[in-house]
Amino acid sequence: MKHGDALEPTLDPADWDDFRELAREMMDTTVDDLKGLPTRRAWRPLSDEDKSPFATPLPREGRGLRAAYQDFLKFVKPFPFGQFTPRFWGWAGGTGTSDGVLASLLNAAFHSPNIIHHHAGTWVDRQVLDWLREALAFPKTTKGNLTSGGSLANFIALAVARHVKGSKSVRSRGVRGKKWVVYGSTATHYSIPKALDMLGLGSDAFRAVPVTERFEINLASLEKAIARDRKRGLKPIGVVGNAGTVGTGAIDPLDALADFAGEEKLWFHVDGAIGATAVFSGRHRGLLKGIERADSLAFDLHKWFSQPYDVGCILVADGRALDDAFSYQTAYTSPVPDSLTDSPIVFANRGPELSRALRGLPFWISMKTHGAAKFGQMVDKNMTQSRFLEGLVKDSPNLELLVSGPLPIVNFRYRGSRRLSEKALNQLNESLVSEIQKRGIAIPSFYAIGGKSCVRVCNLNQRSQRSDFEALVQACEQLGVELEARAGDKAVQHVKICRGGTTRRHPDDRKRRNHSDGRLTPSHDTY
Ligand SMILES: Cc1ncc(COP(=O)(O)O)c(C=O)c1O
Repeated sequence: MKHGDALEPTLDPADWDDFRELAREMMDTTVDDLKGLPTRRAWRPLSDEDKSPFATPLPREGRGLRAAYQDFLKFVKPFPFGQFTPRFWGWAGGTGTSDGVLASLLNAAFHSPNIIHHHAGTWVDRQVLDWLREALAFPKTTKGNLTSGGSLANFIALAVARHVKGSKSVRSRGVRGKKWVVYGSTATHYSIPKALDMLGLGSDAFRAVPVTERFEINLASLEKAIARDRKRGLKPIGVVGNAGTVGTGAIDPLDALADFAGEEKLWFHVDGAIGATAVFSGRHRGLLKGIERADSLAFDLHKWFSQPYDVGCILVADGRALDDAFSYQTAYTSPVPDSLTDSPIVFANRGPELSRALRGLPFWISMKTHGAAKFGQMVDKNMTQSRFLEGLVKDSPNLELLVSGPLPIVNFRYRGSRRLSEKALNQLNESLVSEIQKRGIAIPSFYAIGGKSCVRVCNLNQRSQRSDFEALVQACEQLGVELEARAGDKAVQHVKICRGGTTRRHPDDRKRRNHSDGRLTPSHDTY
C-alpha cells in the first residue's frame, strides 16, 4: 500500500475498542442469561405488536452494531423457543449447553467450514466421527459425516442403501420406475418416507409394518409383508430399525432385525436420532443391543447430546459405500497434493452438501470439557426423572398414564371426573398442553395414542430437576380441573353454534391432526 492511500471499505469495525466494549457487554449479558435459565419462563407467545418490528423494509443504511444489538434485545431475545429452559420437553430437542454457546462463538470466529479443504477443523470433525464410531462400537471400516440433523442423516443412509442394494447405475440413469421398497414400523419417523420421496422412489416405497403392544415393529408382520411384496414384483432393499421412536421412545428389536436383514439380504438402517445417545450410559446401553450391527446409523447430536443446532451424524459401516454413493470429480474441487485441498476427508463426497459448517467443534469442546461419562450420567438422570414423572402420574387420581419408556418419553392425559366424553377429553387435553405452554409453565408437546390425545414429555433435558416434573404434574391437575369445569359451558355453546349452521374449525385443527412426528393422518390414531 502506498503511503497516504485510503483503506477500502470492509465489514469490520471502524473502531475495535468500541467493538471490544460491546462484545464484553454482550458476553456479560449472555452469561447472566445462561445463569438465569433455571428460573426462566418456558415460553411467551408473540402478540401482533411484538411481530411488527419484523415487517419493516430492508434497511438501506446501517445504524451500527450497537443499534442492531438493541433491536435484538428488544424484539428477538424476549421470545425464544424456550428449548434451553429446564421445563422444555416438547418434540425431540436438546437444551444446548453453556460451553456450547462459547464453542459456537469460537467456531464462528474460526470460520473454517468443512468442504474439501485441509485445516484443523477437518481433523476435529474426523476425530468426532472416530469418537462416535468407537462409542457405538461400529467397525473400523466405518465412514461418516456430520449432517444438519437426523433427517439428512436418514436421507444419506437410504441413498447408500439404494446404491448398494438397488443399483449403482441409478446415480447416472435415475430410478426409472424401479420398484424398490424399504420397511419400518408404523411408528417410524416421517423423514424416512420423505427421504424415499426425495430419492425418486416415492414415499409409498416405505412399507409401514404394524407394531406390537410395546410399539415395536412386529417381526412376523414384517416377514409377511416382505413375502407379499416380493410376490407382487416389488424389490425389498432395506429395513429400518428404530432406536427410539419419536412418539413413545420405543426401541425395535435391533439384534433380531440385524439377523433378519442379513438373512433377507436387506440393508439394515437404524434411526437412532433420539436414542443412540443411550450407548454412553453403562446402565442403559443394553437397551440398544444390536445397534452396532447396522449397515448405517443416523442420530442427532442436537437432541440428547445437548449440542447447539444444527448437528446430526451418519455412520456407514462399509465406508467405501458411502463414498461410492456420493462422490463427484470436478476440476475445481480436485485435490492437489500438498495444498489446501489435500484434505484427509472430503466431506462433500459423503452427502449432498458441498459447503457445510465445522459442525463437530462444539461437541469436540463439550467432550473435552465434560468427558463421555458425564453424558452417560445425563442419560441416567433423564431416565430416572422420567420414571419419577411416571410415578407422579400414577399417583394422581386425575391423570392417566398411557405409555412410558423405555426411553425418557412419558405420555399421559388428564382424565378427571370421568364424566367427559372421549371427544371432550381429547379437546381438553389439547387445550391443557396449549395452556401449559402459553402460561409459560413448561413445554410438553401434543400426542395421541390409540385415539387418546395426551401430554407428551420427551425428557432429553440436561437442565431439568425433579421439582420441574412436580410443577408440571401440579399444573396439569389444576388446569385440568379448570378446563373440565369450562368444558360443560363450551359443549352448550358448541351445540348452539352447530344448530345455527356456523360450525367453525379452530385454525389449529389441521396442526392438531399432525402427529408430533409430523405425519398427517385423518384421525388421532397413530398405530
Ligand atoms: C426418530 C427421529 N428420527 C429423525 C428425526 C429427524 O431429525 P432432525 O429433526 O434432526 O432432522 C427426528 C426428529 O425429531 C426423530 O425424532
